[in-house]
Amino acid sequence: MRVHVADHPLITHKLTVLRDERTPSPTFRSLVGELMTLLAYEATRNVRVTPREIRTPVTTTTGVAIAEPRPLVVPILRAGLGMLEGMTALVPTAEVGFLGMARNEVTLEPTTYAERLPDDLSDRQCFVLDPMLATGGSLSGAMQFLFDRGAVDVTAICLLGTPEGLERVERDMEGRDVTIVLGALDERLNEHGFIVPGLGDAGDRLYGTV
Ligand code: PRP
Repeated sequence: MRVHVADHPLITHKLTVLRDERTPSPTFRSLVGELMTLLAYEATRNVRVTPREIRTPVTTTTGVAIAEPRPLVVPILRAGLGMLEGMTALVPTAEVGFLGMARNEVTLEPTTYAERLPDDLSDRQCFVLDPMLATGGSLSGAMQFLFDRGAVDVTAICLLGTPEGLERVERDMEGRDVTIVLGALDERLNEHGFIVPGLGDAGDRLYGTV
């Protein structure tokens, strides 16, 4: 498993505003979009491309185009939905599939309540979007769905992660081609399964239920 933690002052600045409890939902939503575009740039560094010949006004040359089959982008509902637009702005030809997962507040294990993914993901590169990698249960579950359908490699893009969550995904996904791109690696999980220092509940802060 490869882990890449973004180290960029703009990302850290935007994350700081996002973490601030006084930041209201509309600002929170637009910051998630901005952060996503910055992280998507990093996360797509290994997107597969194929040579493409074109004619410029001066000569012919060989460039590249995103290879077929198209990448699949999978936001984990709810909170991952806030990251989707930032990703599709950068990779407009990607296909989008959906996974709805919610954590049980007591056991912290995720249940899947919605799934709309292509049946066959053979040879597909997949990108999972979820702002929070807390215990890692949701991300592991989502990645398992994709590999079970034949995905080749899966890259997750998360705003915040924990050492505990990374460890769990690494253990669960052993032997798989997995990359995790994080805006920041936080200190730890607390006894309620929240990331510390974190930013609270991303779904609630995005969709105004607090
Ligand atoms: C949150 C978050 C992740 C998950 C992370 O979702 O958005 O999906 O928990 O926790 P984990 O790493 O411990 O699995 P939540 O269940 O609160 O649903 P929501 O996105 O609908 O708010």
